[in-house]
Amino acid sequence: MSNDIFEPRRIIVTGGCGFIGSNFVHHVVREHPGVRVTVLDKLTYAGNPENIAGLPSDRVELVVGDICDAALVDRLVSETDAVVHYAAESHNDNSIADPSPFLETNVRGTYTLIEACRKYGVRYHHVSTDEVYGDLALDDPARFTEETPYRPSSPYSSTKAASDMLVRAWARTFGLKATISNCSNNYGPYQHVEKFIPRQVTNLIDGARPRLYGDGRNVRDWIHTEDHSSAVWAILTRGRVGETYLVGADGERDNITVLREILRAFGRPEDDFDWVRDRPGHDRRYAIDATKLRRELGWEPAHTDFAAGLAETIRWYRDNEPWWRPAKEATEARYRAQGQ
Ligand code: NAD
Ligand code: TYD
Repeated sequence: MSNDIFEPRRIIVTGGCGFIGSNFVHHVVREHPGVRVTVLDKLTYAGNPENIAGLPSDRVELVVGDICDAALVDRLVSETDAVVHYAAESHNDNSIADPSPFLETNVRGTYTLIEACRKYGVRYHHVSTDEVYGDLALDDPARFTEETPYRPSSPYSSTKAASDMLVRAWARTFGLKATISNCSNNYGPYQHVEKFIPRQVTNLIDGARPRLYGDGRNVRDWIHTEDHSSAVWAILTRGRVGETYLVGADGERDNITVLREILRAFGRPEDDFDWVRDRPGHDRRYAIDATKLRRELGWEPAHTDFAAGLAETIRWYRDNEPWWRPAKEATEARYRAQGQ
């Protein structure tokens, strides 16, 4: 265990107008007063500047741009202490419909950032997913650890795996000062309506039926996005350079259980949903063993009551309809075209 503490004053947060990135920006502004944040975000369909609107302008600056733009990235990285890399194409279903932007942003974008970080000796934290490990069987007692071999299933997870591999190679070959985190499924405010929980919640607000893929028994290991933020900060500032840390909060649940909890919150019968076409290659189960993060860095999740976190998230979507409404129709049209 290293006692070195890294104390950045200026950080770049890529993808800071997306779901998890914007929650991280709020976390840093609230918890770490001495830190200034530059958000680099292309504002794709998934990016919304409203997510960070209202934060103090002397703490947070938004640069609208592409992580694949080497000249822009070079200039920004030359002026910072650290890069925390969230920007990605993040949705599995989209990656099946059209993998091309996933290759570009997730692989080339990461390459562009780490080249700049190695040139300027800037610290780099790579935010990744547990989906790089593939899936587990429902009856398998095993969970993913840092030693689990990579076995990604989808275009999304394979491009995330490729980006992780680039970071590992740059750390070993070029001495890139990097850390990596692989986190399980996040929930909370500002999540795009294409994702499982916000889709079902906003369908119910609209009086439409939720949509469950396959047999509904696929398991995800849910973590509140605020706990993901505290883990990333711990790893960035106290993690060992060159190391990978898995992030999870022991939140395994199958999809039908989560959906029934949402239906109950709306006072609807528990079978009031539609079964729809399964996702091709649909991973069965994800589960994280976060022992290394807990033991080495003393990290603990704060939001351990999933029912309470879900209720609060549902309330957020009820209270913030103007935030999600503009994306809803186009998202549902895309799903309809896919039979989902
Ligand atoms: P998101 O889709 O909500 O946000 C992605 C953000 O990246 C958007 O603001 C988008 O505009 C921006 N972006 C996309 N391409 C860009 C480009 N070329 N240049 C600059 N900005 C670009 O994603 P999310 O769910 O918040 O995920 C963030 C990160 O966390 C991703 O790296 C994802 O792989 C990882 N992750 C997500 C989960 C999850 O449950 N959603 C779990 C573990 C890890
Ligand atoms: P998602 O939020 O897309 O996250 P990921 O694919 O990264 O795990 O989906 C979570 C789970 O919910 C996954 O097993 C697919 C399932 N799902 C549905 O059953 N219905 C839906 O409408 C969506 C979007 C997902």
